[in-house]
Amino acid sequence: MDVKHCIAMCNATVALEIAIRALELKGEVIVPSYTFVATAHAVQWQEITPVFCDVDPATHNLDPARAEAMFTPRTTGIIGVHVWGPPCAIEALSEIAQRRHLKLMFDAAHAFGCSHGGRMIGNFGQAEVFSFHATKFLNTFEGGAVVTNDDDLAAKIRLMKNFGFAGYDNVIYVGTNGKMSEISAAMGLTGLESLDDFIAANRRNYAAYRAGLQGLPGVRLIVYNEAERCNYQYVIIEVDEAAAGISRDDLMRVLHAENVLARRYFYPGCHQMEPYISYSPHARLLLPETECLARQVLALPTGTALIPEDVSQICQIIRLASANGQGIGQRLTAMTPQERQR
Ligand SMILES: Cc1ncc(COP(=O)(O)O)c(C=O)c1O
Repeated sequence: MDVKHCIAMCNATVALEIAIRALELKGEVIVPSYTFVATAHAVQWQEITPVFCDVDPATHNLDPARAEAMFTPRTTGIIGVHVWGPPCAIEALSEIAQRRHLKLMFDAAHAFGCSHGGRMIGNFGQAEVFSFHATKFLNTFEGGAVVTNDDDLAAKIRLMKNFGFAGYDNVIYVGTNGKMSEISAAMGLTGLESLDDFIAANRRNYAAYRAGLQGLPGVRLIVYNEAERCNYQYVIIEVDEAAAGISRDDLMRVLHAENVLARRYFYPGCHQMEPYISYSPHARLLLPETECLARQVLALPTGTALIPEDVSQICQIIRLASANGQGIGQRLTAMTPQERQR
């Protein structure tokens, strides 16, 4: 990864909290609403206000112009999220952060093994945070890390994640227990040996999805930039109901009925969740792209347990559902909520 410090932690949420505290963020921090709720919670947990910003519909990542428009005298930082692995607008956000004297860090939970301009993710902003949760590219059961090239910040974070201990009996800083467990570290080491195999499997499945869904109206597969390194961990489609003939939610129900675990991400958007919806009930008015993605995005299964024949079957189900969308919609509407859940 070519980064100076990698500080292993018990999970990415605690790693985000510690990095936010070590960077001395306060007041307001600009974050995308289109992210896993842990990004927002890590800010709110420390009584800092997450200010939700809309995303670029092409990349699903923080829109820099909109981020700058959210700036107030209370803003101390920006947390960009590299959603699905490809980097967010790092240069534009860095320029804003520098000009406005803000701290900039990245939630890189999805982006382990990805690059930007040929440089590995982990090298950008003041710090970046990876997740090694079981659903992520590198699985340590539960786990995460803060990575940074800043020696002082790394020293502070190392203290903070170990109760502030600078040696036996010598506590010199406020801290918590953010340590990665031995069993998680061992699991991570075995995973590190197989990263190339994981990428090969994910990439093969992604190519099979690309071929299987090609030309299907209303279903847009998010395409990766082949010039960069990528973990291909997520296969993401956007379902435009008008063109696809079926809504994202009905398609998901059909897939679930066929034992295909497709998942809505990041539904319904952090701003629609508590406590944020109570704090700011009208935030959605500033987040039209996030609202649209939360309605349209579906993550399809991938990983080493799937082979291209499985992918081909999943694509056939999607095509069949799209061709029969109207009838499916009517049948599902006629069902009781309990029947729909089955
Ligand atoms: C974007 C994002 N940030 C943070 C997290 C939190 O990671 P962890 O489960 O390791 O705490 C996740 C994981 O689900 C995530 O997807």
